This record gives sequence, C-alpha cells and structure tokens, in this order.
Amino acid sequence: PGLAVYDPGFVNTASCRSSVTFIDGDKGILEYRGYPIEQLAEKSSYLEVAYLLIHGELPTKDQYDTWAHEITYHTFVHENVRNFMEGFRYDAHPMGMLLASVGALSTFYPESRNISDADNRHMQIVRLIAKMPTLGAWAFRHAQGKPYVYPDNDLGYAANFLAMLFKMSEPKFSADERLVRALEVLFILHADHEQNASTNAVRSVGSTQVDPYSAVTAGIGALYGPLHGGANEAVLRMLRRIGSVEKVPEFIEGVKNGKERLMGFGHRVYKNHDPRATIIKKACDDVFEVTGVNPLLKIAVELEKIALEDEYFVKRRLYPNVDFYSGLIYEALQFPPEMFTVLFAIPRTSGWLAQWLELVQDPEQKIARPKQIYTGHRTRDFVPAAERW
Ligand code: CMC
Repeated sequence: PGLAVYDPGFVNTASCRSSVTFIDGDKGILEYRGYPIEQLAEKSSYLEVAYLLIHGELPTKDQYDTWAHEITYHTFVHENVRNFMEGFRYDAHPMGMLLASVGALSTFYPESRNISDADNRHMQIVRLIAKMPTLGAWAFRHAQGKPYVYPDNDLGYAANFLAMLFKMSEPKFSADERLVRALEVLFILHADHEQNASTNAVRSVGSTQVDPYSAVTAGIGALYGPLHGGANEAVLRMLRRIGSVEKVPEFIEGVKNGKERLMGFGHRVYKNHDPRATIIKKACDDVFEVTGVNPLLKIAVELEKIALEDEYFVKRRLYPNVDFYSGLIYEALQFPPEMFTVLFAIPRTSGWLAQWLELVQDPEQKIARPKQIYTGHRTRDFVPAAERW
C-alpha cells in the first residue's frame, strides 16, 4: 500500500483498459475499433465513425439511419443557452465560450446525472455530438459580431456546421462538396487518439460519476491548452514568420542550433510517421483545388523536404504530425486561428464519449486518485499569527 511509482505525465502508467483506439507509434498505425484510419478516412463518414467509436461495431443501414436521424434532430439548443452565449464579451475566445456552454448544458438536462441508465446515457451522447457544431458555430459568429444561424436539418453533419458558420443572408447556403468532404476527413482523423491529455481529463472527471456534460467540459479545458490543441496555430505563425522558400534553410539551421522547434514535427507516440499527416496532406491538395493554393504551402513542403533528409531530424525520429498541414486547410476554409481548437473539440467529442461510456460500464474502474511523492515539511507546531508577526 505504501508503494508509489513516480511517473510525472503518466508516461509509463496505464490508467485503464480500453478497446476503443489502438496506436502503434513505431509502425505509424492508428485504428478505431480495429479499423485502420486510412480506410475510415477514405471510405467512411464522420457520423458512421462516431457510431463505430460509441457502439464498437459499424452500423447496419437501419442502425445508421436511426443514428443519423437522432443526431440531426438534436442539433438545436435551448434558447436560454443562446442567451447565455450572448452574454459573453465581444472578444471572448470561441474555445472558452464552447467550454462554458457545454458545461451549462448539464443544467438543462438534469436527468443526465443518472448515468446508470443505458437509455439515458445514450440520449446525452446523442445530444452532445449533435449540439457541439451548433455551439462551436455560434461561438464563431459571436466573435464576428454576426447573428447566430440555426441548424438546417436537411444538411449533413459537416455541411450543417459550415452553413451555421458562413451563411449570410441567402436562404440556402451550400458549401462546395469537396470542402465538405475535406472537413469530414479532418473530423474522422481527430475523432479519437486513445489516452491523450483531454481524454484522460474526461476519464478522470468521469470517474467521479458526474454527468457526461461536465466530464466533456473537462476534456475541452484540457484541449484548450497550447501543448495539446494549439500546435497547428503555431505552425501557421511559424510559416508566416519564415515568409519565403529561400529562408527555409536558415530557419532549419536555427532549429538545429536549438533556437526553436519546428512546429508540427515530432510526436510522443509516433516515431516513424503520423498516419494522420499523410491523409491530411492529400486533403490539402483537394481543398486547394477549390480555394486556390495557400502561398504558405510552398514553405511547408520545402520545410518537410529538407527536414526529412536532415540528420538532426532523422536521428531524433521527427516526422510531420497531424498539425503540420491541418492549419493550412483550416485557413483555406476561412477559419481564423482561434477557431482551430474548436474544430478539434467538435469531432473529438465522439471519442471522449466512447471512452466515457467504456469507463462508466467498467466494473474495475475506480475514482481517479493518483498517488504523490510528498516533498514538503513533516509535522511541525503551529505558531498563532499574533506570535509570528
Ligand atoms: N523540432 C526540433 N527538435 C525537436 C522537435 C521539433 N519539433 N521535437 C522534438 N525535438 C528534439 C528535442 O529537442 C529533443 O532533442 P535532444 O534529444 O537533442 O534534446 C528530441 O527531439 C526529443 O524531444 P522530446 O521533447 O523529448 O520529445 P517528446 O516526445 O517529449 O515531444 C512533442 C513530443 C510533440 C511535444 C515535440 O516533438 C514537439 O514539441 N513538437 C512540436 C510541437 C508539435 O508539433 N506538437 C503537436 C504534436 S501532435 C498533437 C496530437 O497528436 O494531438
């Protein structure tokens, strides 16, 4: 009982048993419920992947139709949530707004605290996946000072999100199909990533048996941090600072001399390649076909070319990660940098909920309560303020 292993950041500690997502960092493998990410990104849709993550198996046609119908018809949020969001300052960060609004949802569905009832759990899962794009889009519109746009239930998940973001006065907004598909692919790639910091936060808070809105709010808080969800924004800033292809060698030298890091390179788990980066690069080409090429792409391609051949990066097994190209796509889709993390939180909700569901159904799971190595004083006598001052 007295034994504690010091493992800051839990680099060597397995906190749970999970059958949701498998990663082999050396081989560059990522699978959801056993299905390779490459196949899902090419052939599936985000809602089908969300079903797979939550239920463990791919849906039959009837199961999919019911699921898509349920998600679609829960996209609206209570008017008081809207009023709540309108109370934020004009310059509120959309991720902060999302965090607070998802937390507020728990008060609109008090029955969500009954997590032992399977139907009740399912209802909250549907609500959360359905309402995240609405809340994310409204946070964006708020920052822009534009009126909020209500969901259009004739549209698919990603198309509906784009419409709520960008619809102006025209009665029907329709985004280019290739852009909708690119966003779906990005959503699929970001849906889960086993025990990352935000999922660990969801599991840790969820282990107290709190409602899923509160547990997911903890995940959003973890994702808000720059070390987790913010790297793609840093990549864009870096590319802009480099400014031209000619300046790339000089920048690389600076990185090798320890001046700064090459953002969007390296990963704690992937030491060979990040399978998501390969898929994103292809999505980049599809998006730029519609939007025109982002001039920063040339700099990114040159950086990648040089880095992949340079001994410094090869020796340390540093390869492009998911964030290297995703920011370029988001920018081409007209998203400002502060929306990038919101675009991560929306699809990750299905992964968080799949892991939450697994947690609350696991008889072995206990309340998360790590040990510590105490480094402070031992017993000493208290001296009252009157005698100390
Ligand atoms: N540029 C230059 N050198 C690097 C980089 C980089 N991007 N990443 C690692 N290194 C070097 C580091 O200096 C160290 O060198 P040395 O052995 O000489 O001291 C060595 O490689 C090992 O680095 P580390 O920090 O111990 O590796 P880590 O596994 O703890 O860090 C990382 C992983 C992702 C935090 C890191 O690679 C990094 O900071 N990358 C840039 C930021 C970034 O792109 N983050 C997004 C990660 S993907 C997000 C997701 O999956 O959700």
